[in-house]
Amino acid sequence: MGPKSEIANIELAPSGEKKIHWASAHMPVLNYLIAGYEQTKPLKGFTLGLCLHLEAKTAYLAHALKCAGANVVACASNPLSTQDDVVAAMVKAGITVFAVHGSSPQDYERYLSMVLDWEPQIIIDDGGDLVSLAHATRPELVKKIIGGCEETTTGVTRLRSMAKEGALEFPMISVNDANCKYLFDNRYGTGQSTWDGINRTTNLVVAGKCVVIIGYGWCGRGTAMRAKGLGARVIVCEVDPIKANEALMDGHEVMPLAKAAEKGDYFVTVTGNFGVVRGEHFERMKNGAVLANAGHFDVEICKPDLEALSVSRNLIKPGIEAFKLKNGNTLYLLAEGRLVNLAAGDGHPAEIMDMSFALQALCVEYLSRNTLPPGVHPVPFELDQQVASLRLEALGVEIDTLDPQQVKYLNSW
Ligand code: ADE
Repeated sequence: MGPKSEIANIELAPSGEKKIHWASAHMPVLNYLIAGYEQTKPLKGFTLGLCLHLEAKTAYLAHALKCAGANVVACASNPLSTQDDVVAAMVKAGITVFAVHGSSPQDYERYLSMVLDWEPQIIIDDGGDLVSLAHATRPELVKKIIGGCEETTTGVTRLRSMAKEGALEFPMISVNDANCKYLFDNRYGTGQSTWDGINRTTNLVVAGKCVVIIGYGWCGRGTAMRAKGLGARVIVCEVDPIKANEALMDGHEVMPLAKAAEKGDYFVTVTGNFGVVRGEHFERMKNGAVLANAGHFDVEICKPDLEALSVSRNLIKPGIEAFKLKNGNTLYLLAEGRLVNLAAGDGHPAEIMDMSFALQALCVEYLSRNTLPPGVHPVPFELDQQVASLRLEALGVEIDTLDPQQVKYLNSW
């Protein structure tokens, strides 16, 4: 046993339950898995430590894992993405949760530590904070953890760097790198939810404006594609010549940020790096430019530079802060530079998280049945295909199959 839940207010549960119910009705793959889990309870006896964005779809994943027989203990992977009503509903449903929306960095880490107090055998992480804290503070526990799954690009980058140094002591499955994750969640999920967060917060038009997307990985591609669909002129800033070529052929303009800075009405960072948009860029921006980040950490837009260049800062409304610069211009920072789709929105659409979280559930089950060596492991291809097939089945979409002669032909080379 570990500590009891610490949340904002259990009375908020009815509102959270409604959100979870709505999401669950749009997560057919997870529902299919739940139906099986209720019969077979494959995770009975396991304690799972989740460090994820605590909103409705995540709550439904936690529910699925509980249906599979696991003891589920959760904390937030970002203090601003926590929805207190959803968390209350999770606790009411028998999940242990340590999370309060807007918690201080100290409480954020204390909550992660409380999850580790439960001594989970399997971890699901989003961004790498829980795995990192376990390695930094719990040498005994780390030896007992049988493995974990990582949800996001930033987390996988951190894990690979740990593994390269020989510092990763248990196996981690890079769910982010599965086809049914990055092709849909990173591209269509981030593409839609980033603009949802920006639009619902600013309530400004995108059509006819200039959108600068910084970073053209899968998340950047999706965000640029949706900006174009909303009628924006899109400029992409990249450091990778291959991705820059791809952006050109996708119909976007490509140029360095130093040049794009004076053209953009919106700037969206999706790089996974730090100090991407900084003083030299802020000084060149147009009056009224909007700054948003869709990367995991709030370090892509350099907030210290923005503060240093400003004569005043003013909260216009929740999620929008105005920085009046010494040069007379005002720049608007959304959601404190934290990931705008979750800190100023509800995250990716339910149908998309259905695929990502079905992969998570299947990979947890896989870890419970298999012993893997320490290191970063890909999602087994059969699980990736299983999620794709289940989703098509749920949508009633049929596809063709190869006949034996065709299989023979392909294999005869
Ligand atoms: N909802 C839960 N986890 C999420 C994530 N990593 N990205 C977007 N929406 C989410």
